[in-house]
Amino acid sequence: MLSAVERKIEQFIADLNDKEVASLYASLPQGKRLRAKLILKIAGHSLAVVKTAAIVEMIHAASLLHDDVIDDAYTRRSRPSLNALYGNKTAIMLGDILYSKGFLELNNISPDVAKIVSNAVVQLSLGELKDVSLSKTFNTDKAIYLEMIYQKTASLMEACAGAAALLAGKDKNAYMTYGRNLGIAFQMIDDLLDITMDAETLGKPALHDFVEGKTTLPYIYLYEALNGDDKKRLKSLHAKVLSEDEKTWIKSMMHNTGVIQKSYNEAKVLIEEAIALMDARGESVLSSIAMAMIERDF
Ligand code: IPE
Ligand code: IPE
Ligand code: MG
Ligand code: MG
Ligand code: MG
Repeated sequence: MLSAVERKIEQFIADLNDKEVASLYASLPQGKRLRAKLILKIAGHSLAVVKTAAIVEMIHAASLLHDDVIDDAYTRRSRPSLNALYGNKTAIMLGDILYSKGFLELNNISPDVAKIVSNAVVQLSLGELKDVSLSKTFNTDKAIYLEMIYQKTASLMEACAGAAALLAGKDKNAYMTYGRNLGIAFQMIDDLLDITMDAETLGKPALHDFVEGKTTLPYIYLYEALNGDDKKRLKSLHAKVLSEDEKTWIKSMMHNTGVIQKSYNEAKVLIEEAIALMDARGESVLSSIAMAMIERDF
């Protein structure tokens, strides 16, 4: 049924009646469509559900267009990012168009669904701002990191699950908790993959977060684990372009101190909670989605 979502997105883009936008949008590679899948698995395939899934994927695409400008990232979904191809201005404007069309279409679903999704986009934007502000210094505060990833990533997944539950007449709170756990774990794994995977597998830059100043969970744990001299060395590499030796040093320190496993385990706890919630409701497909989230490598 994902194809119905694809057709709906195409229709929303065609509504805009603008050749340049149509061709720019068509040039974007498709992602994993995880958020759409989540909505369909919770709520079925009615027109309102398909529309909501299409809206959320447009909003998500907009967030990635802006995110790649914010993060100076030149690869996305294994291709040059839109900002790499056409510059920041075009990426920002297309992002604005996708966001706005998404909000416009939300009015045709229901006030409750519109509220839940648009509130998540406020949170997402606040999270992106916080991510950048935190990257100006070497953040070592785990609670702030967790709040930031909840806002920038988990809020939208929580909203997808909540909106879908509303549409399906299911218990909104349980599904929102599921979506929140999934989202936080998803970003934790994304942050881990930035360290453990190569750019080719990821389809986006690798070992890029720290260069951008982002001290994700493994960096926070590594800083805690290192001795005085190594702490200083790690701090001195913050927000800098790294040599191959420096990259190797960071990765080997992370492996030696076990912080990769420690961070992974933390994501796993959240996923296990999400699975237990869904198992209790007989939602085995949603449990498998949660499992796949921590087993992925891109
Ligand atoms: C990427 O999300 C942005 C993050 C929240 C880490 P996805 O990995 O779901 O992106 P696509 O849509 O599949 O490319
Ligand atoms: C992005 O987080 C979250 C949003 C798009 C809001 P990242 O900056 O880590 O995502 P990637 O790694 O570029 O996909
Ligand atoms: Mg990014
Ligand atoms: Mg980012
Ligand atoms: Mg990332």
